Amino acid sequence: DWNMPDYVEEAIGKIRATVGSDQVILGLSGGVDSSVAAALIHRAIGDQLTCVFVDNGLLRANEARQVMETFAKNLAVKVIHVDASRDFYRSLTGITDPEAKRKIIGREFVEVFQCESAKISDAKWLAQGTIYPDVIESAGGKTKKAHTIKSHHNVGGLPETMHLKLLEPLRELFKDEVRELGLVLGLPRDMVFRHPFPGPGLGVRILGEVKYEYAELLRQADHIFIEELQRSGWYEKTSQAFAVFLPVKSVGVMGDGRTYEYVIALRAVQTQDFMTANWAELPYSLLSKVSNRIINEIRGINRVVYDISGKPPATIEWE
Ligand code: XMP
Repeated sequence: DWNMPDYVEEAIGKIRATVGSDQVILGLSGGVDSSVAAALIHRAIGDQLTCVFVDNGLLRANEARQVMETFAKNLAVKVIHVDASRDFYRSLTGITDPEAKRKIIGREFVEVFQCESAKISDAKWLAQGTIYPDVIESAGGKTKKAHTIKSHHNVGGLPETMHLKLLEPLRELFKDEVRELGLVLGLPRDMVFRHPFPGPGLGVRILGEVKYEYAELLRQADHIFIEELQRSGWYEKTSQAFAVFLPVKSVGVMGDGRTYEYVIALRAVQTQDFMTANWAELPYSLLSKVSNRIINEIRGINRVVYDISGKPPATIEWE
């Protein structure tokens, strides 16, 4: 249990002592951990930190803009914004298997990140938002899935191939402490209390082959769902909530005409540790509003379903 303002001073001192006048690079994802790590390291060493934000084309609506606004504009952190969407979509063409998609997305990320980092010629350190639960997880008893998850998130293998030393200033902190630290460092509340978002992003929320057209539809649906959860106060009462794109068409009616369009599934869960989870008993009125908005506002979607499966046996993500 830390006194957070004291902890910040201590952590800043440690970071300065560790890196001296060296350059540091950090892969910014927009998630809580990498964001707080970036804010803390920036507080310690300012312009010696360069963040690399890779847009894989599988981010949520406005995500890239939010990250750039928070860090580059408001906090004056150096952030290189790389739009690598085309490379990701090209590599994912024709790929339908969930684990194969994860591997490709992870590999592309490493490639893009390495290429960008190489431009920061005198970088000596790779900073990561590793937190205490990640440390325990990789110390022993890790499941295959946990390993898969971390292999992308913590860009495993990068430090060795890039000859960089690792800087992990959040290693001793639990998630709630990381959030508290984020607030103390001045990060916006909605960034600090964000639901987790998987590294492969919308890539595992579009079932089967990932197509740009599907991602566009999913982004709009997800945005409506999250907006209504926030307006109704249900965002904070759920641990994770999102839309899933089902690449199947079903029949509907609109005016005098028949439609034949795609299906969106909504998923909202409550959980402590994400190992088990209950589906959230969202009010019918809320579900109804979200469904109406999605169907009326998004051309290409004519049916919305709600996922009422617990984990286990279902997983939280659909892939
Ligand atoms: P599942 O679907 O296994 O998800 O019940 C449990 C938690 O892990 C997240 N998740 C991932 N995170 N890379 C990540 O960084 C992944 O490949 C991945 N797969 C699942 C999921 O969003 C949930 O919070």
